[in-house]
Amino acid sequence: MDSRTENGPLLEAEDLSKSYADVPILDRVTLRVDRGERVALMGPSGSGKTTFLNLAGGIDTPDSGSLRFEGRELSEMTSDERAGLRRTAVGTVFQFFHLLPTMTAAENVEVPLRLLGVPRAERRRRVSELLDETGVARRADALPSEMSGGEMQRVAIARALAPAPRLLLADEPTGNLDSVTGERILDLIESVCRRHNTALLMVTHNPDATRVCHRVLQMRDGRITGASESATPERDAEDRP
Ligand SMILES: Nc1ncnc2c1ncn2[C@@H]1O[C@H](COP(=O)(O)OP(=O)(O)OP(=O)(O)O)[C@@H](O)[C@H]1O
Ligand SMILES: [Mg+2]
Repeated sequence: MDSRTENGPLLEAEDLSKSYADVPILDRVTLRVDRGERVALMGPSGSGKTTFLNLAGGIDTPDSGSLRFEGRELSEMTSDERAGLRRTAVGTVFQFFHLLPTMTAAENVEVPLRLLGVPRAERRRRVSELLDETGVARRADALPSEMSGGEMQRVAIARALAPAPRLLLADEPTGNLDSVTGERILDLIESVCRRHNTALLMVTHNPDATRVCHRVLQMRDGRITGASESATPERDAEDRP
């Protein structure tokens, strides 16, 4: 069975619009991400990509249009429900990692589990599993200032995955890494998303990044102007029976 459509749509935006100070930033954006589907979002600087991710992650609200997560309209949720969604269902990875500088790798990964009230022993187990999975187990006690960019991004990915989210939002996750490290991070993102059937919506300026995605969407001036299936037949063959 195709894991992408097994349980239908995960994120559905319909005619989503957003302005800042009367300047339209998003103009009737309609897009859908299915469970386990990996989608790249490309477009020039200022076209509204980060703004869209902020709406999808529930940290900003649209002016109009509909935004559903697992069939539930975000605007109809209470702010507590939206906060719960942000903590459990959606993970985010950023260009500049955003690790807490005074905490070790392990402590950073533990933060979302603490917020969820996961008991200590279970937290420890999950953190070591996640650091293992992302290839930074031996850096568990290192502070961000002692890590390379690639290591920091691995820790940030581990942290984003800690609550076992159904959707991973990534905003230029390789934008601050050299190309070899960036390639490895893309491979990691693809493998963890595949293993956990986590959907991915990834903003990127790197055309190579689309190789880990099923679909590529183009955004321009706040609108989706193009969509294409990613030309990676061998990956599709793995996904599709
Ligand atoms: N909080 C805000 N207040 C006012 N204007 C904003 C705000 N956030 C974004 N904008 C404006 O909205 C437009 C789109 O910004 P956005 O960050 O979504 O672009 P982007 O596609 O992510 O660009 P980049 O590739 O440079 O990251 C820009 O013109 C930006 O200046
Ligand atoms: Mg941006």
